[in-house]
Amino acid sequence: MKTAEALRGHVTNAADHPDLRDCLFPVDREVEVAECAVEGELPAGLRGQFVRNGPNQMFEPTGKYHTFDGDGMLHGVTFDEGGALYRNRWIRTRGLEAEIALGRSVYPGLSDLMNVPDESLVGDAGPIKNRANTHIVRHAGRLLALWEQGLPTEVTPELDTVGEWSFGGKLRGAMTAHPRIDPRTGEMLFFSYNLFPPYLTYYVADERGDLVHRVDLDLPAPVMMHDFLVTEEYAVFMDSPVVFNMEGLASGEPMMVWRPENGTRLGVLPRRGAAEEVRWFEVEPSHVQHFWNAWADGDRIELAGCRYPRVDFGLEAEASAEDSGVATIGAPPARYWIDLERGQAGWEPIDDMVGEFGRINDERTGLRTDCLYMPAFTRPGALAGHFDTVVKYDTSGASRSTWYVGDDAYVGEVVFAPSPDAAAEDDGWLLTASHDVGRGRSEVLILDARDVAAGPIARVQIPQRMPLGFHANWFAA
Ligand SMILES: [Fe+2]
Repeated sequence: MKTAEALRGHVTNAADHPDLRDCLFPVDREVEVAECAVEGELPAGLRGQFVRNGPNQMFEPTGKYHTFDGDGMLHGVTFDEGGALYRNRWIRTRGLEAEIALGRSVYPGLSDLMNVPDESLVGDAGPIKNRANTHIVRHAGRLLALWEQGLPTEVTPELDTVGEWSFGGKLRGAMTAHPRIDPRTGEMLFFSYNLFPPYLTYYVADERGDLVHRVDLDLPAPVMMHDFLVTEEYAVFMDSPVVFNMEGLASGEPMMVWRPENGTRLGVLPRRGAAEEVRWFEVEPSHVQHFWNAWADGDRIELAGCRYPRVDFGLEAEASAEDSGVATIGAPPARYWIDLERGQAGWEPIDDMVGEFGRINDERTGLRTDCLYMPAFTRPGALAGHFDTVVKYDTSGASRSTWYVGDDAYVGEVVFAPSPDAAAEDDGWLLTASHDVGRGRSEVLILDARDVAAGPIARVQIPQRMPLGFHANWFAA
């Protein structure tokens, strides 16, 4: 594919939106490709690509701006015999292309959804801009940038945009940003939540990327469901009290509300099951935005994630520019269990550190995992996304090890890259995007997953600032 001319950004943040300040301020250029200086030594077995997605607004927002609103940008570092190569690209969604043609923003933020642009302005790009800004996965040879309100957007390994991918026209709705890919079957299992019935739709794509299974599931109310889980046998859903307030929207009430009376239920469905096969299990009201993993232990299903006793995503319609930030920054890790035989479920805390974006060795998806990784917040008054510590839990020995990035510096999601001849679950490396405000530099840090407390064994210097972002992934060569 011919590389398109590099794009430039135009944000000055004249309106001083909090979510465009400091580490959230977008970069204004695309680096075609650049060799990175490396401090320390790159592991010989580390061969592949680290890619991080996140918001990087191109034009001055039309109104209120939340960090969820930004145009997706991918930052990638490729590791091979020659060292480390960096590139970054905006994801050229149809909505962004329409704005590029106009030379300005026309799509409103998510807190102002009623104010959609006129078709005469955006043509077939549609009323809602697919930001593609949340995550990136690789399935059946395709790299897919994800945003949970729209279709996946396919990109090349050089991070250039191919376009929206609808599984050959079979996926007509949205797709979660958190599918689960089973490394043993090659299947990608995912879902979409919907504001109107059916509130939940579950899908399976086979190892060739064909959409082979679809089930509509009933929920009592439309809820925000960001992530789910799979075991070898089941898909596991959490129906939580983060409810879309459809009836109150027209009268200016908040779009999303915490409604504990909605309850929290864990749903268990055979991976190729029909709607009537789903079983729901009540647990104490709570919400999990990101799960680590789930697996079967006899008649029990075990799952873990950071657990919010209540949640506030700061997307309320009346929120001013001053308080548009995410109000709840993270939560302490917890494990949930479901006893299929007794028909019961419950939970218990794992730790009291506050974190988010938990990850595992993805080779263990659906199987028992003992090693859990997450970035955590330890500094008082931390803002959303301002993670400062890499944490590893080894639940087999109930141990925790941590590494603090240093004052004035941040880490992002911690991604596991397995060693090519790994024997143990934690035989590999952890990669995380880091920004050091004090030293004015961005790096991809590489830690030995077996010795997190030792800190980075290599620091890859990124030749420009990387704003804080959302999810990252590792794609082995
Ligand atoms: Fe997420």
